[in-house]
Amino acid sequence: MKLNRRHFLKTAGLSAAGILTSQLPFSSAEAVPRKPTTGQSVMGLIAPKMTTVRVGFIGVGQRGSGHVKHFCHLEGVDIKAICDTNAQVLDESIEFVTAQGLAKPARYTGSDHAYKDLLDRDDIDIVIISTPWEWHAPMAIHTMESGKHAFVEVPLALTVEECWQIVDTAERTQKNCMMMENVNYGRDELMVLNMVRQGLFGELLHGEAAYIHELRWQMKEIDSKTGSWRTYWHTKRNGNLYPTHGLGPVSQYMNINRGDRFDYLTSMSSPALGRALYAKREFPADHERNQLKYINGDINTSLIKTVKGRTIMVQHDTTTPRPYSRHNLIQGTNGVFAGFPNRIAIEQGGTGNYHKWDMDMAKWYAKYDHPLWIQMGEQAERNGGHGGMDFLMLWRMVYCLRNAEPLDQDVYDGAAWSVVNILSEESVNNRSNSVNFPDFTRGAWKTGKPLEIVGA
Ligand SMILES: NC(=O)c1ccc[n+]([C@@H]2O[C@H](COP(=O)([O-])OP(=O)(O)OC[C@H]3O[C@@H](n4cnc5c(N)ncnc54)[C@H](O)[C@@H]3O)[C@@H](O)[C@H]2O)c1
Repeated sequence: MKLNRRHFLKTAGLSAAGILTSQLPFSSAEAVPRKPTTGQSVMGLIAPKMTTVRVGFIGVGQRGSGHVKHFCHLEGVDIKAICDTNAQVLDESIEFVTAQGLAKPARYTGSDHAYKDLLDRDDIDIVIISTPWEWHAPMAIHTMESGKHAFVEVPLALTVEECWQIVDTAERTQKNCMMMENVNYGRDELMVLNMVRQGLFGELLHGEAAYIHELRWQMKEIDSKTGSWRTYWHTKRNGNLYPTHGLGPVSQYMNINRGDRFDYLTSMSSPALGRALYAKREFPADHERNQLKYINGDINTSLIKTVKGRTIMVQHDTTTPRPYSRHNLIQGTNGVFAGFPNRIAIEQGGTGNYHKWDMDMAKWYAKYDHPLWIQMGEQAERNGGHGGMDFLMLWRMVYCLRNAEPLDQDVYDGAAWSVVNILSEESVNNRSNSVNFPDFTRGAWKTGKPLEIVGA
């Protein structure tokens, strides 16, 4: 079987856009001095209050269709338009909306750029972007340029330059660009944030984050769905392809961009063996999946040093056979919480024996459940989406927009958490030498206010 033509076209498109890493205009975060912004910082940005949040969706595949479903159950929203190049999934989402008794959203399809027609509308406030990674930055930038707030799936962008372009555009247009890191709204992550804020762990020292999720089976998605495009990233980049699910919560525990910031990173990748072995086992010898050269190390381990000297380990592994984990570990001078499975050991205020993990979480939930979860957790669990975190994130976005409050995650967070993808590749390719993080806040991290414990 010949190499998939669609893939070649896709790769050619990426290359033309300067997205392929070997063709990046520059490689180091430091190499390009950034021009001063022509806009103003959007840290703490409050958008004018919206009574009804009018929403458009771009990309309603496996992820985006879930967002559409949740929006059908949110108060104070109006689904105006949906775009997808795949007419089948597009129609399924439109039918879902009308089946709930809601007005039929306008339908955009027919080309990779049909989304621009959706963005031309003047009756949309926010756009939810759930497309393959290479589309995130161009779509987010166009969304803000067209006067709308952008809400983008993870990761936010794929090059340092794209991150800066998104930050510059947000500052110039004074629009929100939130990368929708849903894990920050998980019950456990919210509880740990609450524990951190109440000082349970003492002074924070170290965190561990991960995306360990065996996804080789996605390689069987050939013509549509996630594996039809995500598989190729394992042939293009060697680093941490998907850092934000684990790193987002740990960053909020540590007030990254709000009193501290990522300083530099060093990264190592294991050999890349698992995907080729899987292809050999699961596909005929002449299948395209057996002709690809998988270069992304099966396990990538990166270490981040913050300006305050704290350390974070971030791992990525979507290939090896092992149980799911995001680590979710936070260590302070008074103790530690770790996830997968949840456990805790505290010197002052725990069981009295910090040499042994306390695995009985019930009393900790009772004492430290986040007020947002106490208020909304039941509804979130009922609506579902990764245990309720997806619903809670979308509910909270709409709440902030309708009540003129700043969003919980801003463009600087999305850029800092996502850029680990790019910097890890650079470090891996350079004998793990350290790479500096750009300061996307342009110094505003020093005065940025920590995320409040809301909903109390
Ligand atoms: N936060 C989470 O928990 C989570 C979970 C899964 C996926 N994701 C993210 O969601 C995004 C989408 O992933 P997915 O699994 O839904 O993939 P998918 O392939 O199922 O869906 C992507 C959709 O985008 C459409 N699309 C592609 N190019 C388009 C274009 N130019 N214009 C309009 N539509 C276009 C495709 O037809 C497809 O329907 C990815 O960024 C992924 O990382 C996040």
